[in-house]
Amino acid sequence: MLRNSFPRISKRQFSRLSSLRATNATSKEPTKRSQNENRHFPLSEAQAAYLDRVVRVDQAGELGADYIYAGQYFVLSSKYPHLKPVLQHMWDQEIHHHKTFNSLQVKKRVRPSLFTPIWKLGAFVMGAGTAVISPQAAMACTEAVETVIGRHYNQQLRCLTNQFDLKKANGSVSVPPEVNSLTETIRQFRDEELEHLETAIEHDSKKAVPYMLLTEGIKGICKAAVWTAERI
Ligand SMILES: [Fe+2]
Ligand SMILES: [Fe+2]
Repeated sequence: MLRNSFPRISKRQFSRLSSLRATNATSKEPTKRSQNENRHFPLSEAQAAYLDRVVRVDQAGELGADYIYAGQYFVLSSKYPHLKPVLQHMWDQEIHHHKTFNSLQVKKRVRPSLFTPIWKLGAFVMGAGTAVISPQAAMACTEAVETVIGRHYNQQLRCLTNQFDLKKANGSVSVPPEVNSLTETIRQFRDEELEHLETAIEHDSKKAVPYMLLTEGIKGICKAAVWTAERI
């Protein structure tokens, strides 16, 4: 009675199971091999150093932008309520850029720029200082900063798309996914910086007095800051 209550497993069923096992075992091998063949060879020392520099300088730059907009918002938002949503929108985007590069810095274990406290103070003073002169001067500051940053991001995009073709074990050549993802991030941020530049011009940056002195001076400061943050 007890014997009859168990379902009977026929020889045929056992052989089906063993054939399944056999199929699984053989199907795993080519997948693993093809995964290995699909892997890129490691970055060269120069490429790895360049990626570190990109993350370090872009983190410092976005931190600076975050503090510039904080300074502008602090001075202008209550005095010129029509500018409040415009500044808030650009500032929010800079906060997002800053946070993104903060996480990349931690993920890739890149040392931050040693001048970080100076970037914070200098950027806030630049944002607030130009805003104290006039709203147009604040917009001229934005125009100058975003012009330099837009060009800087374009240079990085050219390098990341031209200098990072890596070989795979299977002989094919392509850009590794980590570089592609960084490129996409920079491309998106570059587009947003250029939107900020247009916003500044739409809000009378060209009417700032003294326009040339402000914009050329700020461009010079930004270029020096980029050069320094890439290295120190
Ligand atoms: Fe930004
Ligand atoms: Fe920006």
